Amino acid sequence: MSTILVTGGAGYIGSHAVLALKNAGYEVIVLDNLSNGHRELVEEVLQVKLIVGDMSDRSLLDDIFSTHNITEANL
Ligand SMILES: NC(=O)c1ccc[n+]([C@@H]2O[C@H](COP(=O)([O-])OP(=O)(O)OC[C@H]3O[C@@H](n4cnc5c(N)ncnc54)[C@H](O)[C@@H]3O)[C@@H](O)[C@H]2O)c1
Repeated sequence: MSTILVTGGAGYIGSHAVLALKNAGYEVIVLDNLSNGHRELVEEVLQVKLIVGDMSDRSLLDDIFSTHNITEANL
C-alpha cells in the first residue's frame, strides 16, 4: 500500500487532505510541528500516525523516509 507523508496535516487544509487520502485508501503519516495544529485531531479523530517535528529538519526527514515506506509527500 502507498504511504503518503502529509506535512501540516494537523492543520485546517492538511487535515482535510489526510481525510480525503484515507478515504481513497492510502496509508497516511502526518508530520507537523503543532505550531498551529491539533494533536488530538490527528491521533483521535483521523486516527493516523503523528510525528511531531519541523519539515525543515533534514535529519528528521531522512529518519522518516528511512523508517517508513513513503511513496509521496507534500514537501
Ligand atoms: N473553518 C474554517 O473555515 C477555517 C478554519 C481554519 C482555517 N481556515 C482558513 O484556512 C487557511 C489556513 O489553513 P492552513 O491549513 O493553510 O493553515 P493551518 O495553520 O491550519 O495549518 C498549517 C499546519 O502546518 C503546521 N506547520 C506550520 N509550519 C510547520 C513546519 N515548519 N513544519 C511542520 N508543520 C508546520 C501547523 O502546525 C499547522 O498544523 C486560512 O485561509 C484560514 O483562514 C478556515
